[in-house]
Amino acid sequence: MNSYHIKSLEAYFSTYRKSVENPEKFWGELAEEHFTWHKKWSQVLEWDFNKPEISWFKDAKLNITENCIDRHLESKGNKTAILFEPNDPKEAAQHISYAQLAEAVNQMSNVLKEQGVQKGDRVCIYLPMIPELAYTVLACARIGAIHSVVFAGFSSTALATRINDCDAKLVVTADGSFRGSKTIDLKGIVDEALDQCPQVHTVLVAERIKSEIAMKDGRDKALAPLLKAASTVCPATIMDAEDPLFILYTSGSTGKPKGMVHTCAGYMVYTAYTFKNIFQYESNDVYWCTADIGWITGHSYIIYGPLANGATTIMFEGVPSYPDYGRFWEIVEKHKVNQFYTAPTAIRALAKEGDQHVEPYDLSSLKVLGTVGEPINEEAWHWYDRIIGKGNSPIVDTWWQTETGGILISPIPYATPTKPTYATLPFIGIQPALMDDNARELEGKQVSGKLCIKFPWPSMARTIWGDHKRYKETYFSAFDNMYFTGDGAIRDAVDYYRITGRVDDVIIVSGHNLGTAPIEDAINEHELVAESAIVGVPHDIKGNALFGYICLKELDTDLDPKSISLSINTLIAEKIGPIAKLDKIVICPGLPKTRSGKIMRRILRKIACGEGKELGDISTLLNPEIVAKIKSIVS
Ligand code: PRX
Repeated sequence: MNSYHIKSLEAYFSTYRKSVENPEKFWGELAEEHFTWHKKWSQVLEWDFNKPEISWFKDAKLNITENCIDRHLESKGNKTAILFEPNDPKEAAQHISYAQLAEAVNQMSNVLKEQGVQKGDRVCIYLPMIPELAYTVLACARIGAIHSVVFAGFSSTALATRINDCDAKLVVTADGSFRGSKTIDLKGIVDEALDQCPQVHTVLVAERIKSEIAMKDGRDKALAPLLKAASTVCPATIMDAEDPLFILYTSGSTGKPKGMVHTCAGYMVYTAYTFKNIFQYESNDVYWCTADIGWITGHSYIIYGPLANGATTIMFEGVPSYPDYGRFWEIVEKHKVNQFYTAPTAIRALAKEGDQHVEPYDLSSLKVLGTVGEPINEEAWHWYDRIIGKGNSPIVDTWWQTETGGILISPIPYATPTKPTYATLPFIGIQPALMDDNARELEGKQVSGKLCIKFPWPSMARTIWGDHKRYKETYFSAFDNMYFTGDGAIRDAVDYYRITGRVDDVIIVSGHNLGTAPIEDAINEHELVAESAIVGVPHDIKGNALFGYICLKELDTDLDPKSISLSINTLIAEKIGPIAKLDKIVICPGLPKTRSGKIMRRILRKIACGEGKELGDISTLLNPEIVAKIKSIVS
């Protein structure tokens, strides 16, 4: 029998060994012992990275919501499943028990069915962090509809692209959202998006900010009365292990977002198992991940992983700075949070505001601190360790991706000795490889290369929605028979991994994965712009900031650069969302290019970072003279 709960370094090493020596036996036993199935698999794993085709628990039948909700009802019906903490601390928190969650999810499932949603249909969810978001996600899973949650900070254009890519016909949204002291008109954004999505026949609108909103006859329906009238009983649809569970879009190095498709069984097993061990969750703990459910972190480690373990998971609607910078720590004290999982960008922003915002609060309940989304710098790591953890809570620096579904490299707290800035060791079953530029695997210690994974794991994305060719090209073509992550990493003297950052055209800003291409595409639609190039420059709080080089169609324009910059950022906010706005914009007469016409971002990055003296040989460029001109404008 496998140990589901790993509690020591020895147990980690012995479990890891088993998982790589006989993966099918390992995962098969784990899945059988700890989950509920309607029918067992015919084969644990079938895979071919060349096609690529991956299937876990083939032919098994299940429903993930029975594993996340129903099976806990007898022993944990009254236990809080979701603890909703509103944006405004004056509004009471809501403790939603497993029994109440079951009723609400069933009601939502019945509402979706009444609106004509069937197994396999895509439902787009554009909601703030309110309980209805969790209910809708789980309701889709219950009836076999494929949810596509779009982060409710994306613009109407970005939303429309995502609705159309997966051909969703029903959208669930809210009248608006609270964000600190502001409100956001979500319904207005949806209305604008739907001008471009004629196939959408129904919009369900949750009430949150109670604003006056326009409701389109025949299309828009208030959600609350429908929920109230719906039955609290809805049998779960029996799903195949490899049926899609959800689509989640992530940026890539071309303009179109990639709809990563995750499937039911493998995703469930892996997110549940990683959650239990990486957060060392014990049955009465209160766990809090501050991410938004619009990102993969929220899918895997607010909803599915915690609920599959019968945990209490906090859903926080607000922001770390409202009503003041002590908000996170106030919540930790109030709900006696045991595991706290956040992003380095939030840690840096809070550290900068000073320890006086932390000091008033009792943080002694904390047992594990986590980070995710980008490399954490040493200073932030130590602040988190000292000021938040008081040196008593191990930090789990968890490395993973939308594509991987769950955490792949991370310490196991109280087992793996941590090391600042290192994600440390591969999780059970994960076989990393570092590759050099000649596609050779780097063996041994103290090496640095491109990070790949050599063997499938249960929660890996199976395809890109509607574009399997792109899935193959992006992840399985750079190196033979391996999944390529797009990240660089080093392996140190004790085989610990440190992620050094992206090696492609993706820039991580405040933990958000932004492709340069979609932002450049948005800018290039500006009537004055001929072409543009975006690079990332280090930023104290955000990790990276976006720096844009813009070439105008007419070199001699009367318009002042400030107003051009402003209008470019407005356009980016419209096309993608405010998260993609540029920190700095430089208008220049041309961009350095190779003879084949490729923009030399490496040179532009160096100039933006103040390293313009170290450009090396630029004589092979098509237009080397442009470099000095750009340097003089930037400096
Ligand atoms: O570059 C890595 C970085 O975030 C990328 C994945 O972004 P996304 O799909 O949005 O998922 C973020 C949440 C899982 C990775 O390719 N990244 C994520 N976690 C870490 C990290 N970089 C360094 N250290 C991490 N712990």
